[in-house]
Amino acid sequence: MKLLITGACGHIGSFISERAHKIKKIKEIILIDNFNTQRYNSLFNLNKKKKFSFYNIDLSKKKLNNFKKVDYLIHCASHTNAQGSFKIKKEMYRNNLSCMKNIINYCLKNKSKLIHLSSTSVYGKQANIVSENDDHLLKPQSPYAEIKLIEENLLKKNRKKLKYITLRLGTISGVSKGIRFHTAINKFCFNASLNEKINIYKTAYNQFRPYLSVKDAFKMFKFCIEKNLFDNETYNVLSGNFTVKQIIEMIKKYKKNVKIKFVNTAIMNQLSYHVSNRKLKKRGINLTSEISQDIKETLKIFKSLKYK
Ligand SMILES: NC(=O)c1ccc[n+]([C@@H]2O[C@H](COP(=O)([O-])OP(=O)(O)OC[C@H]3O[C@@H](n4cnc5c(N)ncnc54)[C@H](O)[C@@H]3O)[C@@H](O)[C@H]2O)c1
Repeated sequence: MKLLITGACGHIGSFISERAHKIKKIKEIILIDNFNTQRYNSLFNLNKKKKFSFYNIDLSKKKLNNFKKVDYLIHCASHTNAQGSFKIKKEMYRNNLSCMKNIINYCLKNKSKLIHLSSTSVYGKQANIVSENDDHLLKPQSPYAEIKLIEENLLKKNRKKLKYITLRLGTISGVSKGIRFHTAINKFCFNASLNEKINIYKTAYNQFRPYLSVKDAFKMFKFCIEKNLFDNETYNVLSGNFTVKQIIEMIKKYKKNVKIKFVNTAIMNQLSYHVSNRKLKKRGINLTSEISQDIKETLKIFKSLKYK
């Protein structure tokens, strides 16, 4: 069977590409990216035993009509910087929604099963714990998160004709070939490794947020394909809920002299919440990767850098 991965050079896409051969049933893997973030290295040394091909395509401009039917599609192509999305709001709307519509049209035409990556950043209102059906707690706090919600609704509109699953991922931790450092844990590890101050949003220090190991993200995608979980439902996907303070403590376990600076942010009014993964657990999948292990591995890639 054929798997198409969009945004294949990105952080999550490159992690899946390197391991796609472990997914039972998958014999051929098609990768697409437009090198928007220039991570050419994500294509180096892919597994020789499976049939890989790569296409340099801007999915916001070029339709996928020429591609023969694929069985599964994991859609990772997106502008992804939530904090930076205020400055490029218009472009982010254009790029991400054009890509999404292109993918939906392709899946409708070819009956391909779609894994759609949303984000737990769609939640924004105060509650002790938020779950998938708490629509009144949906309050995106950035253009990036607003777009995720629009994408989810585009899929819901087509639910009778599509087979898909929407996964609201927590913030990703862990190392991949296409690793980026603009999200919380990775950025903190990067700063600590370069002996820089870690900028922490004042309001966020003691707030709980959901995090997801990239290993658990892959486990989830593999599960969907192998168990045929395409029920047109939305699921929260996380390895655990932690405060920034707890994350910093984990970094301090492996790195001495971690320096912190408290700063303001455009996304200030978010309140503390835990995200529930009960719905997913009921489907029989348990995500158990340790965030602290990801932190250890991320710090390790910079281990040659030494400062007095
Ligand atoms: N990383 C996280 O913490 C996180 C958390 C929740 C959800 N997500 C979602 O998961 C998906 C993948 O995230 P990521 O961290 O791998 O992002 P990333 O920024 O590392 O990768 C995105 C990739 O998409 C490509 N791309 C962007 N626009 C494109 C276009 N028009 N045509 C073709 N390729 C295009 C980029 O070149 C890049 O390689 C995104 O939808 C993101 O919103 C990520």
